[in-house]
Amino acid sequence: MIQSYYKSPNNDFTLIKGDCVEILSKFKFGFDMVFADPPYFLSSGGISCQSGQVVCVDKGDWDKPTTSEDMDSFNLRWLTACREHMKDDATIWISGTHHNIFSVQQQLIKLGFKILNVVTWAKTNPPPNISCRYFTYSTEFIIWARKSPKVAHYFNYELMKKLNGDKQMTDVWQLPAIGKWEKSCGKHPTQKPLGVLARLIQASTKPNAWILDPFSGSSTTGIAANLLGRRFLGLEKEDEYLLMSQARREEIEDISIRNNYLERLVKSVNALPSFVSYLSDNSEMDYGIPWL
Ligand SMILES: C[S@@+](CC[C@H](N)C(=O)[O-])C[C@H]1O[C@@H](n2cnc3c(N)ncnc32)[C@H](O)[C@@H]1O
Repeated sequence: MIQSYYKSPNNDFTLIKGDCVEILSKFKFGFDMVFADPPYFLSSGGISCQSGQVVCVDKGDWDKPTTSEDMDSFNLRWLTACREHMKDDATIWISGTHHNIFSVQQQLIKLGFKILNVVTWAKTNPPPNISCRYFTYSTEFIIWARKSPKVAHYFNYELMKKLNGDKQMTDVWQLPAIGKWEKSCGKHPTQKPLGVLARLIQASTKPNAWILDPFSGSSTTGIAANLLGRRFLGLEKEDEYLLMSQARREEIEDISIRNNYLERLVKSVNALPSFVSYLSDNSEMDYGIPWL
């Protein structure tokens, strides 16, 4: 029997504590979409500049560099576990930098995924490079792949075009890095912006879809999912981040905060405005979770 760490009042947001591969081995379920922000293995004592101060950019023990063999087998393990929990027409998004993304790409191919796009997230406000010996790091990659080469995936092409001023949306996304307003419940060292998650969720899922995040952190995926009327399961090892996730989910129980976040998304990254009315129409929904 799996114990949930936290469930939202209407069951649209569930957290489970532990190692994602171990937890996934304990139940069967088919998700519509997976977003994974796995360890990039880049915490080797580097420095950066934040708010005018020199800071160490190490993220935590879970992000320390490892051998390429260990990185490959880690990526193979968690991708295998996720694939077994994807519906046949489901897709997966995985973020990374050069440190981990080539290993992830190779494991995806090994497992039979079909790569659909490699999105470049070009940060519009990257931190400066204080060594002045390289170009400023301003991009991350997000691989989008479907479970099977044979089964068609869902892509909301028309919506993406509409959000892009009626032009086809490209695989280069100019979106800001994390904003202060997104850190009201504490800081996670690698928290993703809601805008990035809102875009990929809207592109690849329909309302009510089930979304899995095996490396949930502060659960940006879950907050974006719920703001957009989707359901979420997050897996995370650390209490500190589970508590932060819970606080973030409790925060959007307040309808004025929820609407404020939606308005920020609409303004800053062109999320779809009609979701605001969709959510207020469905605020009493109880989703139920079949396996918990
Ligand atoms: C890159 S962060 C994810 C940040 C998240 N996208 C956010 O917006 O807050 C990766 C997270 O995965 C967790 N983690 C690392 N290895 C894990 C594992 N094997 N199972 C579950 N969680 C793990 C870490 O504690 C960390 O919080």
